[in-house]
Amino acid sequence: MKEWEKKVRNKKVIVGVLGLGYVGLPLAREFALAGIKVVGFDIDEKKIKILNSGKSIIKHIPNSQVKTMVQAGLFKATSNMSRLRNVDAVLVCVPTPLTKNREPDMQFIIKSSQTIAKYLRPGQLVTFESTTYPGTTRELVAPILESNGLKAGKDFHLAYSPEREDPGNKNFTTKTIPKVIGGLTKKCLDTACTLYSAAIDTMVPVSSLEAAEAAKIMENVYRCINIAMVNELKMVFDRMNIDIWEVIRAAATKPFGFNAFYPGPGLGGHCIPIDPFYLTWKARQFGMPTRFIELAGEINTNMPHYVITKIMEALNEKKKSLKGSKILVLGLAYKKDIDDLRESPSIELIELLREKGAKVDYNDPYIAKTHKQREHDLQMVSKKLSAKMLAGYDAVLISTDHTNYDYDCIAANAKLVIDTRNATAKVRKGRKKIVKA
Ligand SMILES: NC(=O)c1ccc[n+]([C@@H]2O[C@H](COP(=O)([O-])OP(=O)(O)OC[C@H]3O[C@@H](n4cnc5c(N)ncnc54)[C@H](O)[C@@H]3O)[C@@H](O)[C@H]2O)c1
Repeated sequence: MKEWEKKVRNKKVIVGVLGLGYVGLPLAREFALAGIKVVGFDIDEKKIKILNSGKSIIKHIPNSQVKTMVQAGLFKATSNMSRLRNVDAVLVCVPTPLTKNREPDMQFIIKSSQTIAKYLRPGQLVTFESTTYPGTTRELVAPILESNGLKAGKDFHLAYSPEREDPGNKNFTTKTIPKVIGGLTKKCLDTACTLYSAAIDTMVPVSSLEAAEAAKIMENVYRCINIAMVNELKMVFDRMNIDIWEVIRAAATKPFGFNAFYPGPGLGGHCIPIDPFYLTWKARQFGMPTRFIELAGEINTNMPHYVITKIMEALNEKKKSLKGSKILVLGLAYKKDIDDLRESPSIELIELLREKGAKVDYNDPYIAKTHKQREHDLQMVSKKLSAKMLAGYDAVLISTDHTNYDYDCIAANAKLVIDTRNATAKVRKGRKKIVKA
């Protein structure tokens, strides 16, 4: 242990980050910023080429940071997995989506474990960061890693430390977000804590791999359920002619016992709509239902339909049908000021609008065109905004409240504004045209 501490302190360790996405790249950056050499592994050759040329692949990580890391010799990306032999630690940040049947899709965890197993050598630390159900690291990952003959906790160290990245959050970075860590053994835990302490400010060691896995799931279940709660209240209050946004603002002045959550057009992102169902799936093996999660899922997945109904009602007031109407969707990303459209409610809204016969365009300053996703292929290009073009649509639907939209201009020029985010709260002129949904 002393030797490992010395190696980390003297920045002689080499860290491997496997999976260079929204989580892996910021993590690699933190180690590089701490002066520790990082090798980034990915199967996506395009990403590797971009990164090695000193450019970023994520909007909120500037090109200049990647360039500095590369030029300082502190970061190199590769698809040559045999180089896993050369690193002291492998931190795994691969996707954990759901299958079509809404069950955990473990293919990325399994494949990356198989790859690591092939090159695993004694003394290495392997930490998984991907969000997953409690039991994954011990029951699924460890046996695959051990298939090459080395024993976890004896020949190599195994830990789990959930990533808590919040893309676009200006108040917290990977470095300042406390790191929950569980180890297979006490030594595994200490080894992982020592390494992460070199790049991240606060360690939160827990007693087991499962406690660390469960902590992350709990955080996301908490968000999922609270968002469902405000979404339900939004619909109830709307019927009573009460503005949910005003109610939240008032309730949030309570200095204790209340955390504000905000309604929206549906759940988005890689985490909140997906991760709770990892627990649901695992809980079934224990004969336990997860009724809160199921109910929250039901309410949240209904939100895009609610928004469509609100659009239809608003058009109806103007003696128009949705069929044949021209609708402009503002914002494709799942939340403001980022370029990630995974699981974005905007996608479902566009599909529902099209199904109902509307002609749909979109604008998103961060997403110039759509690309094929696992289950969607919109084949659309972002339209340039102008006062004139806004006036050409029967309704403008604010789905993502990007900060740099000019909401006064939108309200002034659009015929009808459907606002799902309270983005037009400060708009004074043209309020009669705005419908909250
Ligand atoms: N995006 C977030 O905000 C966020 C926040 C917290 C936790 N997480 C969790 O972190 C994990 C990663 O999410 P992400 O958003 O970074 O995903 P991502 O899709 O942005 O990145 C994953 C990367 O892994 C690569 N990859 C896939 N299989 C691989 C393999 N076998 N070997 C090497 N590379 C491989 C992909 O090419 C991709 O570049 C998920 O479990 C997610 O739930 C994400």
